[in-house]
Amino acid sequence: MPILIKNCRICANGKVYSKNILIKKDKISKITNKEPKADKTIDAKNNFVLPGLIDAHVHFREPGLTHKEDFLSGSMAAAKGGITTILDMPNTIPATATIEALEQKKRLAAKSIVNYGFNFGSTENNLEDIKKAKNIAAVKLYMDYTTGDLKISDFEVIKEILKASKMTIIHAEDEHVKNAVDILIKNKIKGRVHFAHVSSQRELEYAKSNKLKKQITVEVTPHHLFMNQNDLQHLGAFAEMKPRLKTENDQKALWHGIKNGMVDIIASDHAPHLKEEKEQANYPFGVPGVETMLPLLLDAFNKNMMTLPKIMELCCENPAKIFKIKNKGFLKEGFDADLVIADLDKRQAVRNDDLLTKCKWSPFEGKILKGWPVTTMVNGSVVYDNGNVFNIKAREVQYAG
Ligand code: NCD
Ligand code: ZN
Ligand code: ZN
Repeated sequence: MPILIKNCRICANGKVYSKNILIKKDKISKITNKEPKADKTIDAKNNFVLPGLIDAHVHFREPGLTHKEDFLSGSMAAAKGGITTILDMPNTIPATATIEALEQKKRLAAKSIVNYGFNFGSTENNLEDIKKAKNIAAVKLYMDYTTGDLKISDFEVIKEILKASKMTIIHAEDEHVKNAVDILIKNKIKGRVHFAHVSSQRELEYAKSNKLKKQITVEVTPHHLFMNQNDLQHLGAFAEMKPRLKTENDQKALWHGIKNGMVDIIASDHAPHLKEEKEQANYPFGVPGVETMLPLLLDAFNKNMMTLPKIMELCCENPAKIFKIKNKGFLKEGFDADLVIADLDKRQAVRNDDLLTKCKWSPFEGKILKGWPVTTMVNGSVVYDNGNVFNIKAREVQYAG
């Protein structure tokens, strides 16, 4: 059942090309000027086609917190946002910090319509499980308080986790970024470290201004790029997440980091909580993000704040490279047919009613954005097209090495 996507505009090597993309089964078979025979043709109408986004930081809340999200609702929202692969975080109930919990999560994730991978949680006493865990993207280490109770304060324990893991994603705020880097240096630890949701100039400097530049990668979120603490005035708890929104200067520093290569990836940190929960006095931290990440970035492209190759680098190529995800992140012959057709001229407001996340709200509600995904393909099947979602199951990602 070959599918031909006609009239695609694609970016490669700093140039824009008009091409047709032939999909065979779940792979990109040809990117060509010709019109090979196919059973089905999709007209991209000269819209840009990007590799599907790889969102390395989402909380799909299953098991245990499925009133907020689950793998089906979260993945439908992701597909609508042009995301074709997600890496889920371990702060579920139970936490994904035992082999048993990982196996359970793998079974639950089978309902996802975008490809999925897992980050394994670390605790004060699960080193043996960390060493045994197979086919994971990374080990997640929480050095600060946030949703769930995985925070670790003991630097000795942190040292052992960093030693045991080839790749650790750290939730570290402010001084804790520096502390984590110091532990790496002092103990000559060779494992790679990825700092999640870096939110301030100081954090960015701590993470990147040392000799471990290659060993350390930095992630920023759309909410820290497109909001700052002034937004708390009108949004209140709906703009409260960990780390909290920072100053305009910090926001600028993150944008500067994108331009000068200090920032390696953008990930949503999709962290849905229900409206009712956010309205309580002791509201939980976190905001949803999978549906608005690409539209926000395309809008930034339209405002000359970012190029399309940069969006592809930070949201597709680098996540695939950093987490060693096989066969994804690039529009290349032989790669998985995970892609998104984006209409760069489409203007539309973010509307809570349109959202597919179970929480049904966004801190960006009302914002008019120019540039929206219109069609998303996962493993060669269209899972999202102009408002319609198709429940076609995806699969677990595989890693090289
Ligand atoms: C996340 C959540 O709710 O799971 N919350 C958040 O504010 N970012 C946890 C996290 O990423 O720290
Ligand atoms: Zn976090
Ligand atoms: Zn998170």
